[in-house]
Amino acid sequence: MPIVVEKLSYTYMQNTANAHTALDDISFTVGDSEFIGLIGHTGSGKSTLIQQLNGLMQPTSGRVLVDGYDMNDKKQRAKGRALIGMAFQYPDYQLFDSTVFADVSFGPRNMKLDEAEVKRLAAEALELVGLDPAEMMEKSPFELSGGQKRRAALAGIIAMRPKYLVLDEPMAGLDPGGRRDVLELIARLRAELGCAVIMVSHSMDDIARSAERIIVLNNGRIRMIGTPEQVFADTAELTEIGLDVPKPMQLAAMLKQRGAAVPDGLYTEESFIEWLGRAVKHA
Ligand SMILES: Nc1ncnc2c1ncn2[C@@H]1O[C@H](COP(=O)(O)OP(=O)(O)OP(=O)(O)O)[C@@H](O)[C@H]1O
Ligand SMILES: [Mg+2]
Repeated sequence: MPIVVEKLSYTYMQNTANAHTALDDISFTVGDSEFIGLIGHTGSGKSTLIQQLNGLMQPTSGRVLVDGYDMNDKKQRAKGRALIGMAFQYPDYQLFDSTVFADVSFGPRNMKLDEAEVKRLAAEALELVGLDPAEMMEKSPFELSGGQKRRAALAGIIAMRPKYLVLDEPMAGLDPGGRRDVLELIARLRAELGCAVIMVSHSMDDIARSAERIIVLNNGRIRMIGTPEQVFADTAELTEIGLDVPKPMQLAAMLKQRGAAVPDGLYTEESFIEWLGRAVKHA
């Protein structure tokens, strides 16, 4: 059973002069092993929304069901939360133990497994993200690079075998090589673990490359929801709310203006280059 978000609203500092409605009547579902991209300009409510998914924040109205567990109910919330692996916008907040290995073991240890099983799950998770378990026994999280911190935070989450991977800007602060590595890692984890992914990103190119469905937030409301083809086709709408379209689409639009017959829907780099290769061959 999937995640169901029903008429969810959230107001920060409700009943005060500073009350601010960050989410307004949000409804959508996340299917089993679906990859959802969540986009929207800064302050549109992305982080607020994903913190509602694991019951970290309680909605002002509406509800979230995770595999049928009502996240408004304290008892059911614990069961729903166990299915969700959440990576926050800033990985430093997620790593706090003296060694990386201890950090990654934290989740499995809380699942009351025996010590050998805890160690096995932590080592396996570190290997999955490309970090050496033996080396991480000694290493402090503060000795890691930005990209390694992202990997370590992901390892800590996948060690708990979540059914849903919820990621808030997992590539933020990384160079292009690091971004590609982490994006590929997420795709690989999804394939190997069969989990669904809900990923927030400011990069339209990253979202275009990986999401099966995109949710566009604007001022706390869903402005668009659909496949990348559907969402990126509406350039005018995206521009109006301060979002770009993926770079290959910007290039395609420029070529079209100069009279080139560029087909629609070339929103990933790969599809654009493939078309360009064919076009050059036949020129
Ligand atoms: N703790 C808080 N108290 C009051 N208002 C808040 C709080 N956190 C966020 N907000 C407000 O709620 C709105 C949504 O914030 P949120 O952090 O969810 O946006 P976001 O889409 O994640 O932005 P970004 O892309 O910058 O991460 C913003 O207007 C923000 O100022
Ligand atoms: Mg945010």
